[in-house]
Amino acid sequence: MRDLRPRSEDLEPIERAPVEELRALQLERLRWTVRYAYERVAHYRAAYERAGVHPDDLRTLADLSRFPFTTKADLRENYPFGMFAVPRDEVVRLHASSGTTGRPTVVGYTRADIRTWARLMARSIRAAGGRPGERVHVAYGYGLFTGGLGAHYGAEELGCTVIPVSGGMTERQVMLIRDLSPEIIMVTPSYLLAIVDEMRRQGIDPAGTSLRLGILGAEPWTEDMRREIEQRLDIHAVDIYGLSEVMGPGVANECVETKDGLHVWEDHFYPEIIDPLTGAVLPDGERGELVFTSLTKEAMPVIRYRTRDLTRLLPGTARPMRRIEKITGRTDDMMIVRGVNVFPTQIEELILRLPPLSPHFQCVLRRDGRLDTLTVRVERRPQARPGAAAQAGVALADQVKNLIGVSIDVAVIEPDTVERSLGKMRRIVDER
Ligand code: DLL
Repeated sequence: MRDLRPRSEDLEPIERAPVEELRALQLERLRWTVRYAYERVAHYRAAYERAGVHPDDLRTLADLSRFPFTTKADLRENYPFGMFAVPRDEVVRLHASSGTTGRPTVVGYTRADIRTWARLMARSIRAAGGRPGERVHVAYGYGLFTGGLGAHYGAEELGCTVIPVSGGMTERQVMLIRDLSPEIIMVTPSYLLAIVDEMRRQGIDPAGTSLRLGILGAEPWTEDMRREIEQRLDIHAVDIYGLSEVMGPGVANECVETKDGLHVWEDHFYPEIIDPLTGAVLPDGERGELVFTSLTKEAMPVIRYRTRDLTRLLPGTARPMRRIEKITGRTDDMMIVRGVNVFPTQIEELILRLPPLSPHFQCVLRRDGRLDTLTVRVERRPQARPGAAAQAGVALADQVKNLIGVSIDVAVIEPDTVERSLGKMRRIVDER
């Protein structure tokens, strides 16, 4: 793999600033945001008043913990435009979250918000190892989902050539990679695997393409999955994080030189980790739910938005901004099987350590009398013998029992039988 480290003179000044400078900037911006939301959004004014706090109470960064959280339910109640802080003619773009349960949430951007987003995405692509002049194949979905357009604007901002493919039509994805020779692909890790399978089907060596960098996110993926992708494609696989409510992709990104978690672009987003049950703020280093406050957003500022994503905050390394550890899952993907908490990422990690098993799997939850049961349906790798794969399935069940502490069923199935995602993979199939 090639050395993709950006030169330090290509970084923005804030990416090289001392931490104290970053904290001072955050405080200034936080005070602005907290007041701006109070003055312009009825929901925030009412929520602060119920909690007995006023924007004047925010004197230090730690004072933020006195302000109330914002949840997905608050956004739903104010559907579609109730959380907007600007008149409608200042909103130049709308996006919406997928809304698998109930109403979607609509988010809006002013012209300045779109600029900020493009710059942060450009920063993210550069941190991942992308350079001006390179070709970027964008296979995140275009549309209401923020992935496609977010990547698109960022790649253009950095000075790359964008190939706006969107998700789906996997055969054509492979043809375009072969013919247009992009260096970078931006796609969900699960869909990238589907593209790799298609390359093999077409007799193309996935390690022999022009690609040298994948900027992968929008769903949880493990270190083992990173290794799998890096080896099969001979590329750097770098993690990108974001969510529509806070902006879209580019809230946090890994740096290619360290690949040790995702630097939160803290000059624009203030992160906290809380105990998901009590709401108490936890010290850096402890695991809990990630909460964000936007620091510069105009159309839809968010104050202490509960992401439901589970991770921890770590000190900066390649940049002064703090890192989040790779996300292990969401509070809502936590499966509780016989009283034990299990995340699909834990299963993924164990599967990828068993060579006959492929990374294509789903977790099927059923109810058997009063007990919930979990069956992991996992494909054998095409080159693995069925007997060896069946043995690996038994080993997987044993390891889940020994390492996670719960009995599960494993069904090893034939290649190409788990439904492929075109975007975010649905890891949990709830049949209860
Ligand atoms: O998924 C934005 C995005 C697009 C991020 C492309 C990265 C790349 P939503 O559809 O609103 O936005 O979903 C946000 O996806 O709260 C996480 O649960 C999950 N997620 C996003 N990135 C990661 C990641 C986009 N790198 C939700 N690792 C978030 C784990 C991620 N989970």
